[in-house]
Amino acid sequence: MSDRLHTLSGYFHEYQKSVAQPEEFWARIADSFHWKKRWSKVLQWNFEEPDVRWFVDGKLNITENIFEKNLYTLGDRPAIIWEPNESHEEVRTLTYRELFVEVCRFANALLSKGIGKGDRVIIYMPMVPEAAIAMLACARIGAIHSVVFAGFSSSSLADRIQDCQAKAILTADGNYRGSKKITVKGIVDEALEKVSVETVIVYRRTGQETFMQSGRDFWWNEVLEGQSEFHKAAEMDSEDLLFILYTSGSTGKPKGVVHTTGGYMVYTKYSFENVFQYCPGDVYWCTADIGWITGHSYIVYGPLLAGATTLMFEGIPTYPHPGRFWEVVEKHQVNVFYTAPTAIRALQAFGTEPIEKYNLSSLKVLGSVGEPINEEAWHWYHTHIGKGKCPIVDTWWQTETGGIMISPLAGITPTKPAYATLPLPGIQLSIVDADGKELHGNSVEGNLCINFPWPSMIRTTYGDHDRCKQTYFSTYKNKYFTGDGVKRDHDGYYRILGRVDDVINVSGHRLGTAEVENAINEHPKVIESAVVGYPHEVKGQGIYAYVICDMSNRSEENLIQEIKETVSKIIGPIAKPDKIQLVPGLPKTRSGKIMRRILRKIAEGSLDAMGDISTLLDPEVVEKIKAGRK
Ligand code: WTA
Repeated sequence: MSDRLHTLSGYFHEYQKSVAQPEEFWARIADSFHWKKRWSKVLQWNFEEPDVRWFVDGKLNITENIFEKNLYTLGDRPAIIWEPNESHEEVRTLTYRELFVEVCRFANALLSKGIGKGDRVIIYMPMVPEAAIAMLACARIGAIHSVVFAGFSSSSLADRIQDCQAKAILTADGNYRGSKKITVKGIVDEALEKVSVETVIVYRRTGQETFMQSGRDFWWNEVLEGQSEFHKAAEMDSEDLLFILYTSGSTGKPKGVVHTTGGYMVYTKYSFENVFQYCPGDVYWCTADIGWITGHSYIVYGPLLAGATTLMFEGIPTYPHPGRFWEVVEKHQVNVFYTAPTAIRALQAFGTEPIEKYNLSSLKVLGSVGEPINEEAWHWYHTHIGKGKCPIVDTWWQTETGGIMISPLAGITPTKPAYATLPLPGIQLSIVDADGKELHGNSVEGNLCINFPWPSMIRTTYGDHDRCKQTYFSTYKNKYFTGDGVKRDHDGYYRILGRVDDVINVSGHRLGTAEVENAINEHPKVIESAVVGYPHEVKGQGIYAYVICDMSNRSEENLIQEIKETVSKIIGPIAKPDKIQLVPGLPKTRSGKIMRRILRKIAEGSLDAMGDISTLLDPEVVEKIKAGRK
């Protein structure tokens, strides 16, 4: 692995090279992959449009780089270890060879149902190996997958089916969540009352009674019958779409972030190997769901491209007991463990007793992702899980970046609690002030931008290129704007301060305040609403909704409950407001704009320092809201 960094001086050296000669830098890394046809140009770009192409004219299939390239050396190594919801249920292990056969068979099954190159396929599944098989089979035939987190409601699912004009849905009968058995296909059926697809393939997980529409719905095992164990990979262009993943922004409905084949492949493997310093034979466990980008890049593609053993966990951290994560670490001798601060904080609340029952000595590296990790949680993770000997990689990145951008390299970069530390070689960051002026040097704070393309960056927002341009490339000229605030300290280390736009991060899940407001406003008694985030001990941020309602014939309690249910139905339970305050009015400027700054302050509980409220149409409303604070 020539593209693997081993020392801090090596890191600084590579970083310099990657900035001085980016094309040479990336060409060298890309050369270690299998290309059916080599690229004619490493990079062609323009942030104005934006139009970014990596490894131009290169031809490849990402799954050949997982399977054919490695089968001789890795065939019998476990690719996926699956730990079910119930600890007594049987573990499933798929070697690289076995996984390859499953992917080929399912690829053939998809083709037999008329699904082919360029078709969009929605994957709405629990955390079972078949979800990864489904993604890889799509990639094998050149279909574009769009995984939708199985906690989203039928109406969120319908929106996504509609937006990408999906031809098929791959799903399951049900899902186990802790002690509960939840319907999955039932939600698909509800979505399909509003929109339609040609084919639905259903994996039997829970065995619960399931409606199947003849001619449209097929059982997974039945479509696999008689399928060949080999499929010749489709030849894809480097810039062909690999997948669409919907994510929330500050306005309107979630947008379909588009990732393409060649660059995503190169960057996910490169970042996986370098950040986690994965060694052959290690067991690697990322606790994310495949419905999020972390699951795409660091459960499926990155680890499998690197020939790693990736553990997939179906369950939840606290079922059947709060030591479940640690039980799994011991059981599978996990070496690298990657989770979210919200999970760490939730488990912290149970004390150290659940940890002490298990032997965690296999752990070498710990990771964190999804939201800022507070110092207290960092220390708890370091001391009680890592026993003071495992480096923590606090990895900053986004759905749009495709892979980890700022992070320590495990065991190489000296860490500092709550700091994501330094950018990976190839990543050119900048910090700008509100006017877009770049702030050079150390000890500065501002908005985080990226000045130069990287291979796994967003190419467009599906079906609406202008939205991509407006959201990411128009705020600051010739820069990609992340939406995050950041500080570069006296050592040049980066600390992410959180979103500076109207996006909130609830337990590591991204939600737009406008999206939650739209859902609240669907309730017939709601006149207007405003949603803000506030600091929450476990979730990082909680959702605080200020709502103006028509109160006639209704009790406050009932209305609040109904509004919560409405949001849950329209987006999903993750978007349910933690606090709803019914208010007589909202603080608006004379031009009608809601002053969210004030609402955020009240939600946070800083009731004294309201700042300048002289531009408000009705300053008195602020006092009334303060008085009724939840
Ligand atoms: C936040 C998740 C601080 C950030 C991979 C970003 C973080 C958003 C970190 C993207 C981190 C992610 N420290 N904040 N290590 N990682 N974030 O698209 O606000 O679900 O913009 O991608 O999460 O969330 P997304």
